[in-house]
Amino acid sequence: MQSTPKTFRIKSFGCQMNVYDGERISELLSDTGLEAAADGEDADLVVLNTCHIREKAAEKAYSDVGRLKREDGSRPMIALAGCVAQAEGAEAKRRSPMIDMVVGPQAYHRLPEMLAQASRGARPVDTDMPAISKFEALPKRRRANPSAFLTVQEGCDKFCTYCVVPYTRGAEVSRPRADIVAEARALVGGGAREIVLLGQNVNAWKHDGRGLADLIRDIAGIDGLERIRYTTSHPADMGDALIAAHGEVEKLMPYLHLPVQSGSDSILKAMNRSHSVESYLSTIEKVRDARADVAISGDFIVGFPGESEEDFQATLRIVDAVGYACAYSFKYSARPGTPAAVMEDQIAPEVMDDRLQRLQARIAERQLAFNRSTVGRDTQVLIERSGRRPGQMIGRSPWLQSVHVETGAEPGTMLDVTLTAAGPNSMTGALRQKDAA
Ligand code: 5AD
Ligand code: SF4
Repeated sequence: MQSTPKTFRIKSFGCQMNVYDGERISELLSDTGLEAAADGEDADLVVLNTCHIREKAAEKAYSDVGRLKREDGSRPMIALAGCVAQAEGAEAKRRSPMIDMVVGPQAYHRLPEMLAQASRGARPVDTDMPAISKFEALPKRRRANPSAFLTVQEGCDKFCTYCVVPYTRGAEVSRPRADIVAEARALVGGGAREIVLLGQNVNAWKHDGRGLADLIRDIAGIDGLERIRYTTSHPADMGDALIAAHGEVEKLMPYLHLPVQSGSDSILKAMNRSHSVESYLSTIEKVRDARADVAISGDFIVGFPGESEEDFQATLRIVDAVGYACAYSFKYSARPGTPAAVMEDQIAPEVMDDRLQRLQARIAERQLAFNRSTVGRDTQVLIERSGRRPGQMIGRSPWLQSVHVETGAEPGTMLDVTLTAAGPNSMTGALRQKDAA
């Protein structure tokens, strides 16, 4: 039996929505009287906020649990949270006797109660997806990073054939507009200058007949907020109103993460993506018509069942056709319960390795080309953290590039900067003297 924990640590993996959930769990535990463990110190309670998207990520959860055993044989109280918790439920307790409680992404507002149960020796599991939103039960927001995440939508109704998200995060649910605006105000009050609206399918957000474009306009009205971003979007939900907002709402940053997954129509069909190469490219064109300098980023999967070399070549071609500023690419990973996991023609691991390498090389070329194309621009950088060298700070450009700047400015400062040099993954910026003669 474990005694009641006094200190906690949260480790979040996977997507930004998990980072957001991790922040809210931290606020909840602090409200319950626990303290965040200091850096380098053991915590009485460790919350592993896990990701289930690929097999590697899911297996990592269990090896991370194993590593929590201390040299003297003792261990902290362990809560398995996030998407692995949702997918595995009580099975997780059987797989690892070290796990004290299992809590899904829609149930973590119940953690204080579960902690009390675990302290009495029980091993509670809660993977319910209640109709009443967890958000109502969570404490109000207080502190915020200069760039703060705000989840506005969860779940997915798209059922891409490779993807576990519809099973782990459930059906699409949008938070009410007034709640989101109130949370955004609180984040700005707590120090945020940029808000990133999050959802598995964020551009499918709707409430009372209004869509994401309206929500963005509402949030843009908050004084003190300077930048708005949103992620992740589905190409099929990229409507005209949202595209128009890119040209009209000044605070909406010129950056769009729009995963395509493959450049081959037959693979897109087998993935059940509900867009084609042509419709995707035409959406990008419309966004660029609305906002010429928009940076496009994307996600790719290589080695989906049945992917031929020709299909893969089409994927390489779309990287060039779009001119991605940034893109993430993954080897296909068969997920239990998804239609693609039982498709014929699964691709050999060495073929996937080779394709991933070639794709990543092509993406890196594009990314460097994009970064170089921005050298010489006068722009603004929102400072987020210190750099490695003393006197160096790191922030983001409107195009989400990491920019290194020599400055004593604090995180949260918006600086006028000229981009002076480009690397594959970051930029150098020089301060502009606003009032220089
Ligand atoms: N295998 C590999 N990559 C996947 N993704 C989603 N499911 C899988 C899977 N089964 C990738 C997609 C998605 C990103 C978040 O993860 O590219 O956009
Ligand atoms: Fe991973 Fe998807 Fe869960 Fe995010 S929602 S943590 S990407 S499985």
